[in-house]
Amino acid sequence: MTSGSGMADINLANIKTIDGVDVAGKRILVRADLNVPVDDGAVADATRIERVLPTIKSLTKAGAKVVLMSHFGRPKGERSPETSLKPVAAKLAELLCTDVQFFDDCVGPEIEAGVALLKDGDVALLENLRYHAGETKNDTGFAKQLAALGDIYVDDAFSCAHRAHASVEAIAHLMPAYAGMAMMAEINALSAALEDPKRPVMAVVGGAKVSTKIEVLTNLAQRMDMIVVGGGMANTFLFADGVDVGKSLCEPDFVQTVKEIAEKAKISGCEIVLPVDVVVADSLAEGVETSVCGVDEIPPDALALDQGPASVAMLKDKLKEVQTILWNGPLGAFEITPFGTATFALAQAAADRSKAGTLVSVAGGGDTVRALNMAGAADKFTYISTAGGAFLEWLAGKQLPGVIVLAGDTNPKQSAVALSLIHISETTRPNEPSRMPSSD
Ligand code: 3PG
Repeated sequence: MTSGSGMADINLANIKTIDGVDVAGKRILVRADLNVPVDDGAVADATRIERVLPTIKSLTKAGAKVVLMSHFGRPKGERSPETSLKPVAAKLAELLCTDVQFFDDCVGPEIEAGVALLKDGDVALLENLRYHAGETKNDTGFAKQLAALGDIYVDDAFSCAHRAHASVEAIAHLMPAYAGMAMMAEINALSAALEDPKRPVMAVVGGAKVSTKIEVLTNLAQRMDMIVVGGGMANTFLFADGVDVGKSLCEPDFVQTVKEIAEKAKISGCEIVLPVDVVVADSLAEGVETSVCGVDEIPPDALALDQGPASVAMLKDKLKEVQTILWNGPLGAFEITPFGTATFALAQAAADRSKAGTLVSVAGGGDTVRALNMAGAADKFTYISTAGGAFLEWLAGKQLPGVIVLAGDTNPKQSAVALSLIHISETTRPNEPSRMPSSD
C-alpha cells in the first residue's frame, strides 16, 4: 500500500455499508447523483440512474421507505423548469418498474408530511437540492431540514463526493451515515487502481492541456510505474524535450511544470511514455488529408492530432507488461475521424486483456468513456467510473469531503486498507455509458 497524501490517508475500512443494517420500516434518505443528460424533457443517458438501482432495490426489498435526493445542473438557488428533476423521476419509475413519487421541493413541512405518508417499500424523489442556496454552502440548517426527512442517510453518489455540500457533507454529521453500493463500487475500483494496484500499473493521461491536469500528473508520477501522456498535453511534454511541434496545441508556459513532473517521475521510477510518431494534418476536420511522421519531423504548419502507428505498437507492447491500467483522457482528437485510431487501438487491446481476466482496467471522465464506447471497449473494462470532477480529484490525490465524512476520521499515519477490487456484478457493470460529464 502506498502511503502519502490524498485518499491514501483515509481509512476507507471505516466506511460503513448498508449491508446488514435493519432498514425495515425506516425512512432512508439516499443521496444519488441524478445529474444526467436530459434532451427535450427525456433522459438521454440513464447510466447514473442505473448505478443507483441496486441500492434502491435492496432497500425497498428490505422494507425501507426510500427518499432519493439529488442536484441537477447548477441552478444557484433559483427554481427553473430546465433544472427540475421531474423527468428523472419518470425514468427512475420506468427502470424500477414501480411508482416513484415526485415531491416538488426537497425540504419543508409539506415535504415532511408527504414523506410521512410513504409506505414500506415506496420510493420517492425530492426536487433539485440546488434550488436552495444552503445546499452548495454546506449549510447546517439546510442539512437539518433534509435530515428531518429520514432516519438513516445513505450516500450513493461518488461523483458528488468532491463537493462539500449539505446533502453530501453536513448531513452525514447529523444522522447515521452509510455508503451505498454504487459508492462502494467506485471507492473499491479506484482504490484498486490507484492506492493499491496490481503492478506494474500504467496510467493513460490524455486531453488537451497539461495546465488542467497538473495535480493529476504530479500525483500519478509518484504512484504509477508508467504514465502514457496523450492528446495535446503530449505536445507540451515533447516541446519541453526540445521538439518542434509545429502548429500543434502546446502550452509553452508549462514547460517548467512538465520538467518538474518528469523529475518527480524519475525519482520515483515512473516511466513517462511519449509518442514516437504522430498523425498530422493542416487542420482538425473530418476527411482532411493526413500523414504520419516521426515526432522530430512535424512540419512547421502541421498539427499533431493523433499518435502514429509506431507509437500504437509501442503502447500495445508496454500494455503487455502491465497488470493494471488507469485511464483518463484520450490519446488524440478522437471525436474527429480518423484521429481516434490510437485511442481506439489501445482501448481495444486493454478491453481484450480485461475480458481475458489478465488486466484490471479502470477509466473515468466524460471524454474517456465516450472514446471507450466508440471503440466498443467500455463494457469489457473492469470498471468505468461515472464521476467527472470527483474522479479527477481522486487521481490528483485530493481528499474528497464526501468520502472523508463517511470514513469518520482521517489518520495520516494509517495508510488506507487494501481494498480488493469487488466483483463487478451485472448490476454494477456499466451499461454502455455514453454521455457523462466531460472533465478530461
Ligand atoms: C458531475 O456531473 O460531475 C456531478 O454531478 C457534480 O456536478 P457539479 O460539478 O455541478 O457539482
